Amino acid sequence: MQQTYFMIKPEIVAAGDQKIGAILAIVNTAGFRVTGLHMRQLDRALVEDFYGEHRERPFYGDLCDYITGGPVVAIRLERENAVAALRELIGATNPSEAATGTIRDLFGVSLQNNAVHASANTDDAARELGLIFG
Ligand code: CMP
Repeated sequence: MQQTYFMIKPEIVAAGDQKIGAILAIVNTAGFRVTGLHMRQLDRALVEDFYGEHRERPFYGDLCDYITGGPVVAIRLERENAVAALRELIGATNPSEAATGTIRDLFGVSLQNNAVHASANTDDAARELGLIFG
């Protein structure tokens, strides 16, 4: 069994419970088990650390503003091969390039507002789960 970090981003949370429920149903149907979940507004210092690998990228400031702009749903998921399986289920970073039926294809609206985040690899999963769930 492997754990990964999954996050439903502020624009989806702001849109109401139906989208949160629909996204959770997709991950549940794909065989993931929710082992931790909370809704919370992340503070700036935490988000700057969380997305630290992007610090030099031009979109970093906007990304931190966006993620701290409203509550997110933070989720710990468990499944065999969870990290890779969840990345496949969410689709490409840019929703316009995400495979049909993936979460970002269904719910993403732009490269930044791409609905959800999932850890990129097992090291990131451990780091991100530690930051968010302690
Ligand atoms: P996420 O998978 O959470 O990882 C970094 C986030 O930065 C990404 O999703 C997008 O929300 C945002 N982002 C904005 N612009 C870019 C870009 N040009 N490349 C990658 N990510 C971007």
